[in-house]
Amino acid sequence: MKTFANVFLGLFILRTVTAPPPSDPVNYDTDTYEVDLEELSSFYDYDGNQGEIDQGEVEIGTVLPVVNRPIISPEQIPEEAEEEEESTPKLIDGSSPQEPLSPGVLIPETSGGVSTCILCTCMGTTVYCDDHNLDTVPPLPKTTTHVYLRFNRITKINKNDFSHLIKLQKIDLTSNIIAEIDEDAFRSLPLLNELILRDNRLRQLPELPNTMSVIDLSHNRLGRKGLKQEAFKDMNDLHLLYLTDNNLDHIPIPLPDSLQALHLQDNNIQEMHEDTFCNMKDYTYARRALEDIRLDGNPINLSKTPQAFICLPRIPVGRLV
Ligand SMILES: *[C@@H]1O[C@H](CO)[C@@H](O)[C@H](O)[C@H]1NC(C)=O
Repeated sequence: MKTFANVFLGLFILRTVTAPPPSDPVNYDTDTYEVDLEELSSFYDYDGNQGEIDQGEVEIGTVLPVVNRPIISPEQIPEEAEEEEESTPKLIDGSSPQEPLSPGVLIPETSGGVSTCILCTCMGTTVYCDDHNLDTVPPLPKTTTHVYLRFNRITKINKNDFSHLIKLQKIDLTSNIIAEIDEDAFRSLPLLNELILRDNRLRQLPELPNTMSVIDLSHNRLGRKGLKQEAFKDMNDLHLLYLTDNNLDHIPIPLPDSLQALHLQDNNIQEMHEDTFCNMKDYTYARRALEDIRLDGNPINLSKTPQAFICLPRIPVGRLV
């Protein structure tokens, strides 16, 4: 059984690797599905947990996930999210010799999240739990490094949902209905660097660790008080900050020099200052990394602050007349 599974997975990985690169402009996902072969060999060895779970059942559950159904009707997802979904591995493609397990076959929760790998799909230390009608975050194996919970119905993130997952690097909660996140839900995750919360109902961003590199909060309800003062200041590795389509009325300064892209289109930003990006006291200062600033769709006239862009490699996109 294990050999079959490995061969099958090998084929799947090969297919994923040889597939053409996704044309998705939101490309922070491209390295997500590279599964290290070494990781694969330890595919079934979650904590050596044998307990009450029959190893055979775990393997079947892992290899035959419950994803053999239509993804989501197109009108439910915005265009970009739909494109991104295409890069999600299609795991079985109808080649399965058996019926997929139904959620009713679930083994009782006895093993710290390993049983989630029967309902969802675990590959190496990545857990895929997209489109499973979940309304809360399921228990996750404590070795989890990447978790995908897209296209579910999660309403709230509680402080204990992720807090014990000290290896966690990426959380993707795209397209849920999250309106609230406990203040300490993410703050003490020592390795977290990507947090994707696009397409939710979030009004307030909780504190994040300074290890963040990618933050996507596009299409939410963040308003004047949605971001803390100086929320991003000490994130010295922050590269992408996407805040498209919220209700923000200011640019969340100060921004770290590492930042490469700042998307603020479709907000309510009316003004900026000459020091927002540059330093009026030091004309030699250059913010070389920040090549991509989007301010279109805001009631702001960029021509009013011509000095505000002198340290940037490119002028922001927005109204210039
Ligand atoms: C934008 O600002 C410039 C410079 O102050 C001004 O000449 C122009 O009329 C403004 N445009 C609008 C639409 O307010």
